Amino acid sequence: MRILVTGGAGFIGSAVVRQAIRDGHRVVNLDALTYAACLDNLAPVANAPGYAFVQADIRDRAALDAAFATHAPDAVMHLAAESHVDRSIDGPGDFISTNVTGTFTLLESARAYWAGRGKPADFRFHHISTDEVFGSLGPTGQFTETTPYDPRSPYAASKAASDHLVRAWHETYGLPVVLTNCSNNYGPYHFPEKLIPVTILNALAGRPIPVYGAGENVRDWLFVEDHADALLLVLQRGTVGRSYNIGGQNERRNIDLVRSICAILDAKRPAARPHAGLITFVADRPGHDARYAIDATRIRTELGWQPSVTVDQGLERTVQWYLDNEHWWRALQARAGVGERLGMNA
Ligand SMILES: NC(=O)c1ccc[n+]([C@@H]2O[C@H](COP(=O)([O-])OP(=O)(O)OC[C@H]3O[C@@H](n4cnc5c(N)ncnc54)[C@H](O)[C@@H]3O)[C@@H](O)[C@H]2O)c1
Repeated sequence: MRILVTGGAGFIGSAVVRQAIRDGHRVVNLDALTYAACLDNLAPVANAPGYAFVQADIRDRAALDAAFATHAPDAVMHLAAESHVDRSIDGPGDFISTNVTGTFTLLESARAYWAGRGKPADFRFHHISTDEVFGSLGPTGQFTETTPYDPRSPYAASKAASDHLVRAWHETYGLPVVLTNCSNNYGPYHFPEKLIPVTILNALAGRPIPVYGAGENVRDWLFVEDHADALLLVLQRGTVGRSYNIGGQNERRNIDLVRSICAILDAKRPAARPHAGLITFVADRPGHDARYAIDATRIRTELGWQPSVTVDQGLERTVQWYLDNEHWWRALQARAGVGERLGMNA
């Protein structure tokens, strides 16, 4: 398959690109290279014959049309987005612009390309979204594909809007779309402003490990390579017009997750005192959703997907990857905003 991946220089997009190339697909990675991008994430595939890179913005219609014309993809996997909730609190404009207007522009370019080729039924526009569109859960229950949308942060609202656009382009124009809504990802190449890499890197540096509020917020953690597998499966076997929830069946309170990482580091890189002693509770994120949990029955029963690792196995692999790849994260720590407390300007 020839796949146009947007956002392929980011965390999840690069995992998708690496996996797709390994699976024998041809990939054109279209990415604007924002602060969150890192071309080093593509080093394992950069010289593969089936890989091409286009630096372009998904809000640039002419650049998108040129990429479709040049690379003639069979499918689009749309991951490009502004993705950090804390940044969306401080500066929601970029989130509306990229996640909503950018998705609209990409849909229009894809629609023109698809129509120009006689509307092939096997074309796919795969929109990659988040479980945050569903809002916040109490202590029980899980998000299913029919849970009403209830986004509560500017990030979640912009992703919800993009999901609605994608469904509308299917209903109105017949564009063959599939959608996925996934829980929190973690793993190698995770940008060092997110909870898990912050915990690992602060612990290694002997700096305070910030935990928002009382650390009671619960997330369902999914290893990024399992997510990439699920996405490629949905792209190839998912039913057109349908959405699939993807989750790791690994619910953890933030505080427990952070303690697990500290325990792994105690074993791998013992310090004078246990790393958990660095945990510092800080002011909570405004509007911090209490709990997300995914019911992944549909993708499991219809497509036979399930995660390959538990959160303990995935965390162990992730911590080891950060220990082995210091050159990668050191370079990114110098980028604007990384290491600062963001998202308090509400
Ligand atoms: N990280 C998670 O836990 C998670 C969970 C569920 C869904 N998602 C979704 O998966 C997708 C990828 O998430 P991620 O964590 O890899 O994000 P990321 O921030 O690591 O990467 C985003 C990529 O998109 C690119 N990009 C941003 N704006 C662009 C624009 N205007 N034009 C072209 N490229 C642009 C960036 O340069 C970057 O390479 C997003 O759509 C996100 O909403 C993420």
